[in-house]
Amino acid sequence: MALVGTRKMFEMAQKGGYAIGAFNVNNMEITQGIVSAIAEEKAPLILQISKGARSYASMSYLKAIIDVVVAENPDIPVVMHLDHGDTFEICKQCVDDGFSSVMIDASKHSFEENIAITKKVVEYAHAHDVVVEAELGQLGGIEEDVIGVSAEDVGKHLTDPEEAIEFVEKSGCDSLAVACGTSHGAYKFKTTPTLAFDVIEKIGEKLPGYPLVMHGSSSVLKEFKDLINKYGGAMPDAMGVPEDAIAKASKMAICKVNIDTDLRMALTAKIRQVFAEKPAEFDPRKYLGPGREAIKDMVKHKLQLLGCVGKAAECM
Ligand code: G3H
Ligand code: 13P
Ligand code: ZN
Repeated sequence: MALVGTRKMFEMAQKGGYAIGAFNVNNMEITQGIVSAIAEEKAPLILQISKGARSYASMSYLKAIIDVVVAENPDIPVVMHLDHGDTFEICKQCVDDGFSSVMIDASKHSFEENIAITKKVVEYAHAHDVVVEAELGQLGGIEEDVIGVSAEDVGKHLTDPEEAIEFVEKSGCDSLAVACGTSHGAYKFKTTPTLAFDVIEKIGEKLPGYPLVMHGSSSVLKEFKDLINKYGGAMPDAMGVPEDAIAKASKMAICKVNIDTDLRMALTAKIRQVFAEKPAEFDPRKYLGPGREAIKDMVKHKLQLLGCVGKAAECM
């Protein structure tokens, strides 16, 4: 089966009260770890590539890796998605490169400019049978001492449900990334957070069936944080989104859950462990291999949480 878009996946996820995991890929081992989990659990798959991944690995290598994923997994629907494209030009390039889904993140611009840029991407992408994710609002936290957005500013950064409706209608985007209290990276919160589920709920009520996306959804697993800190790393204050919050959002209008930091931490933790326990080791297979295995186990755990285990067939 060729690469697919997200329409069918999101329709089934909405109906079934689950979400699809969207995992960032930067090299072969990360991709293999994710895909072996997906293949065992028979889950639908979104592999996403950032601008940084494109310049790190080069698009031709990443595309070749994903072509192998598709060829070797005919019973799994696979989306190749651009993560956080910030201009029309990069989105156009990705459509031309064969992506089946692109994200235009023009959320740093004014509401009107965001609509105009998104609309332009939608017109080009839809003409090439590619779906478009857009973003409204800016990621941050909703607790007093959250890093990124101050408490007074939170209301300005969370997605406004009324604006979301107007945005979707005017831009024509196929899915919308909303700011509901999550943020990117390993230092999302200082104390246990509460996500703004009301934002998800209100948009879900006003746009029934419309797929929403949750970025910044890594949970910063204790296992990997502890290994990193034990073996010479320094991430004592790392904190992610509680897993029960991710499971709850997945049952609501959130259809796509973005995970990158947890992949990075799994790989880093295992590499640090091998280096610390076997300082004479210099065969990359001996440290990248355990990292790849840790990614596989971690992704299997995420798929359970998102509720998408066994859902590949219905999303084809
Ligand atoms: O949302 C950001 C992703 O984690 C990608 O990060 O731009 O460093 O590849 P990156
Ligand atoms: P995390 O940093 O929480 O993994 O979020 C990744 C993401 O949102 C990619 O778009
Ligand atoms: Zn993101």
